[in-house]
Amino acid sequence: MAMTTGGRTRIFSGVQPTGHLTLGNYLGAVRRWAEEDQHRADALFCVVNLHALTVEHDPARVRRLSRQAATLLLASGLDPEVCTVFMQSQVDEHLRLSYLMECTASDGEMRRMIQYKEKAAAQRAKGGVRLSLLTYPALMAADILAYGTHEVPVGEDQRQHVELTRDLAVRFNQRYGATFVVPRTTLPAVAARVMDLQEPTSKMGKSRARTAGVVYLLDEPEVVRKKVLRAVTDAEPEVAYDPEQRPGVANLLNVLAACTGGDPRRLAEGYDSYGALKKDVAEAVVETLRPVRERHAELAADPASVDAVLRRGAERARALARPRVDAAFEAVGLLPAG
Ligand code: AMP
Ligand code: TRP
Repeated sequence: MAMTTGGRTRIFSGVQPTGHLTLGNYLGAVRRWAEEDQHRADALFCVVNLHALTVEHDPARVRRLSRQAATLLLASGLDPEVCTVFMQSQVDEHLRLSYLMECTASDGEMRRMIQYKEKAAAQRAKGGVRLSLLTYPALMAADILAYGTHEVPVGEDQRQHVELTRDLAVRFNQRYGATFVVPRTTLPAVAARVMDLQEPTSKMGKSRARTAGVVYLLDEPEVVRKKVLRAVTDAEPEVAYDPEQRPGVANLLNVLAACTGGDPRRLAEGYDSYGALKKDVAEAVVETLRPVRERHAELAADPASVDAVLRRGAERARALARPRVDAAFEAVGLLPAG
C-alpha cells in the first residue's frame, strides 16, 4: 500500500502507566529504545494509558503516573527531536482500529493469553474481571498495526501478545486485502526478563503488592542498595550462573551484566561470595539509574514542556496512523466519513 515509511524501519513500543517504572522496564525495554532503536529507525514510543483502565484504577493516580511515565521516557534519553513520544489516549486511531481487531480475533485466542490468565485470576479475587482485560491484546495489536510497524522492542513477557498481533495482521490481510505490515518482536540480549529480587521466579513488575523485591527507577540510591543487598539467593556455597536451579543468583548476574555490559556466566567466575556480588550489583544499578533520576528531576520541574512534547507527538502519530486506519475501515466495508 502507499503508506510506507520511506524505506526506513518503523518501530513501535509502549509502557503502561499502572505503577512506577521499574528496573525491569528499563533494562528490558526503555534503555534499548533510547540507546539504539530511536537512532536506527523511525520510532514511536507510547504511554499506553488506555491499557491502564483494564484493571481497577484510581483516575488521579493514572493521570499522575501517565505524566510520570512520559517524563521518565524523556529522562531515559528518548529525544523528541529524533523519535515520537506520545500518549495513547490522545490519538483516536488506536480505539478505532482496536474495534476492527476485536472483529478479527476470536475469543479463544484472547483467553489463551498468559497475561490475561494471570491478571484475571488476581482481579476475580478482587471482585470482577473487566471485559477490556480480555480484549486488551486487540488494542495492543491496533497500537502496533496502525503505524505499519516492522519491529516491536519489548521484554520477554510481551512476546505472546506480539505473536497474536502478527496472526491478526495476516488474517486481516487475507480477508480484506493487504493493509498491515506483519511486525516482529525484538528482545534485548540480556535482561529480557528481570525477576523480582525477593521472589526470583516471578517477573519484576510495577504493580506487585510487595515492593521489597522491585527496584523503581526513582528509588533513592540508599533504597536501591537495601533492596539489592536483601535479594534472595540460595544456600549453595559458590556463585554460579544457573537460571533454572538458582534463579536468584542468575537474576543478580543478569542485572549486573545488563548494567556493565558483561556476560552473566563469565561474571559469575569473578565472585566467591554473594556479599561481594550484591555489593557490585547495587553499585552498578545505582550508577545506571543515576542519570535517569537526575534528568527526571529537571524535567519534572517543568511539566508544561513535557505536555508540549506529548502534544506534538500525538499530532505526528495521528497523521501517521490516520490513512492506514481509514484504509482498514474501508477494507472491511465501512463507508468512508469524508
Ligand atoms: P509494562 O510494565 O508491562 O507496561 O511493560 C513495558 C515494557 O517493559 C514491556 O516491553 C515489557 O516487556 C518490559 N518489561 C516489563 N517488566 C519487565 C521485566 N521484569 N523484565 C524485562 N522487561 C520487562
Ligand atoms: N502490553 C504491553 C505491556 O504490558 C504494553 C503495550 C501496549 C505495548 N501496547 C503496546 C507494547 C504496543 C508494545 C507495543 O508491557
